[in-house]
Amino acid sequence: MNAITETSFGYDDGDIDTNRSANPHLNDLIASRYSRRQTLFGGVSAMATAVFGGAMLSACGSSEPDEAPNVAVSAGANGTATSGMTVTLTGSVTGNSLSSGWTQVSGTPVTLTTVSPTVSTFVAPSVTTATPLVFRFTGTSISNNPTTADTTVTINPAVLGFTAVAKNRDDIVTVPAGYTATVLYRLGDPIANGVAAYKNDGTDTEFSKRAGDHHDGMTYFGLAATGTAPDPTSNTRGLLVMNHENITSSYLHAAGQTSVGGVRPEAEALKEIECHGVSVVEVNRAAGGAWSYLQSGALNRRITPLTPMTFSGPAKGDTQLKTLYSTDGTAGRGTINNCANGTMPWNTYLTAEENWAGYFRRTAGDAAVRIAAGAAKENTSLARYGISEGRGGNNNWATVVAADTTSTLYTRWNITARAGTAADGTADFRHEAFQYGWIVEIDPFNATSVPRKRTALGRMNHEGCVIGRTVPGVSPAFYMGDDAQNEYLYKFVSTAKWAAADATNADRLAMGDKYLDAGILYVAKLNADGSGTWLPLVFGQNGLTAASTVYPFADQADVLINTRLAADVLGATKMDRPEWTAVNPATGEMYLTLTNNSSRTVANTDAANPRAYTDPKTTGGGNSGNPNGHIIRLRETGDTSEALTFKWDIYAFGAGSDLDAANINLSGLDATNDFSSPDGLWFGLPSNTTGQATPVMWIQTDDGAYTDVTNCMMLAAIPGVVDDGAVKTITNTLGAATGTQATRVGKAPGTALRRFLVGPKECEITGVFTTPDGKSVFINVQHPGENGNAANITSSWPASQSGTPATPSRPRSATVVITKNDGGVIGL
Ligand code: FEO
Ligand code: CA
Ligand code: CA
Repeated sequence: MNAITETSFGYDDGDIDTNRSANPHLNDLIASRYSRRQTLFGGVSAMATAVFGGAMLSACGSSEPDEAPNVAVSAGANGTATSGMTVTLTGSVTGNSLSSGWTQVSGTPVTLTTVSPTVSTFVAPSVTTATPLVFRFTGTSISNNPTTADTTVTINPAVLGFTAVAKNRDDIVTVPAGYTATVLYRLGDPIANGVAAYKNDGTDTEFSKRAGDHHDGMTYFGLAATGTAPDPTSNTRGLLVMNHENITSSYLHAAGQTSVGGVRPEAEALKEIECHGVSVVEVNRAAGGAWSYLQSGALNRRITPLTPMTFSGPAKGDTQLKTLYSTDGTAGRGTINNCANGTMPWNTYLTAEENWAGYFRRTAGDAAVRIAAGAAKENTSLARYGISEGRGGNNNWATVVAADTTSTLYTRWNITARAGTAADGTADFRHEAFQYGWIVEIDPFNATSVPRKRTALGRMNHEGCVIGRTVPGVSPAFYMGDDAQNEYLYKFVSTAKWAAADATNADRLAMGDKYLDAGILYVAKLNADGSGTWLPLVFGQNGLTAASTVYPFADQADVLINTRLAADVLGATKMDRPEWTAVNPATGEMYLTLTNNSSRTVANTDAANPRAYTDPKTTGGGNSGNPNGHIIRLRETGDTSEALTFKWDIYAFGAGSDLDAANINLSGLDATNDFSSPDGLWFGLPSNTTGQATPVMWIQTDDGAYTDVTNCMMLAAIPGVVDDGAVKTITNTLGAATGTQATRVGKAPGTALRRFLVGPKECEITGVFTTPDGKSVFINVQHPGENGNAANITSSWPASQSGTPATPSRPRSATVVITKNDGGVIGL
């Protein structure tokens, strides 16, 4: 018998190799003599009979004449596996036995799961070099005499363990063979008792008690049996906390958005507003393995642009945060355009306010009123964040005439300063836009907790906020991208030093106060030689003073509210749209997706943003600049979160595999792994193999350049390290312009980067998290069919996931959970 079962050997798990032809062990030979499957072993069996037949009894112990004879056992042949694989040990017993089973003799301890008296399984542990594990199979005779046999399984470092999904434009989530994708939580799904099932015809209401739209960044928090406390080890019960970034309004109403005389109906606007924000929803895995969300979950909650919040950190109470709603500048209403996220080790969730600026109306004359009020610099600030005069604001919410004439829920979206009202902004909503653009901390384990806007982390188009590795006694670092063309990469370093006990502190938001309210915000400057510097955004230093010609900074609050202007002063490196960050839990290296940049030109490339070209998209015209994006990474000097310098290279360049290998497809992507516009980025958890010795990194795309070939996707990677590649000089050609640019290209990923999933039509794949055991992965499908409308439905997903519906069904953003059919770790 083999150590690996007949079915798993070379078939189920795919990559197990067993040495069946050379140098059989004594135990193998004994076993083969008695195996019920002797034909598998042919000549080996015959040899065993000849050589060992007479020796076997003495090898296995003696029997007294009045006792039942000892049993003979086999532990099978030695085998190999790679980290994260599910390994099946199959023994065999010959003779009348009382019991049998497997134990581990040596090597990295693993948890053996007993499947039957002869079969046990384990997950191959994480290793960096070939590591033998010895297991013992014991059969006990009815006279209670044990007989044993050992087998060795050698574990090799992790490799991706699935067959790449082919690029496609199907209206379905496609996953590799051996995996199952299940739709879990869709736009409109009710999350409170008494809320009707979603009709999906544009007439539904009560979105403050339903899933919002445009699912985005997401965390799974394990939930204890009490149903109220965190349990970071729970793989079967948890809270999914996710962002709802935006809306596809064409499907939300019976026949799209309406207005009468330029005035939006209140009911439509309320629905649209409540479809934004964050969901907290309990999910459970049944004994049979199926996941479902719990409509009646005690911690279920929607946080929306209407939810009261408070400000904390240096800008709390600043004049620029004062509004008619919060005359002392310490509170605000809601969060909006929540993109990616952050998962704090003290069990809170960070949500990032990204494209908030677009929601605000600012009409002509506003600038003059601000000047008259002595606040001319606010015009500089608004311009830097893209809020020019003459903007109507997304969805025109400011036009709503509320039934409650005292309500300011809609008028606050108009930031136009009213002449003749209080110059400090306490009588109108001229400062409302300054209340957005922050990282917001939420305690998902307390449904009545008030979220806190953490001003120390700066104000920008926050994509996400990821904490690096924590080390006791060392200040933790938080990495953040500002997603707009030519914006910057930031790092916040807490004043507080990490204390491991804080991870279990029951006052979770107080832990946020400790680590997120005091510290230094830095912006990155990346040098051509592969070095880099973190530049501190500290008032009074390096030109961040009232004398600055860029903007007259008054104090640290002013620096933080105007983070972009401060970073301009410091000379930070303009990047190709900084999206998600992720930190390799084994090395501490930080990865950053740079999704694309249509304004990158041949003349303004630099080593860290080196490409300017045209992507030959066959439909919709070519995209130029850096249309396919890249993923950059950095290693802090001394591998410490407190470092002020780092080195960097580029892990991978997005590109179609058919593009110029010398100048565009610089990472040598092929049909199994070519991608465009990387956005979502996440490393596996250290609690399972995907986050240990050689962690798995997940890459998700939000693409418009390769969509003539494939829908958006998710890939898995096992990346190397900074500087594992080479310096390379490329030639950029864009229109009539041409020029050369040196850059730092990481080692080609090869088979250690592979497409895991392709989404349905017109979607973005975003948001990824696993259970602690790595055996269930949750992902979000955002805005399927976004180019259609109720009269022209261009995707029927998720209804189409179980077969094309007879009539088109309005598409819904949704969470999908993916499991491996053999119950194993996802991806390995
Ligand atoms: Fe919401 Fe930058 O993606
Ligand atoms: Ca998006
Ligand atoms: Ca994104």
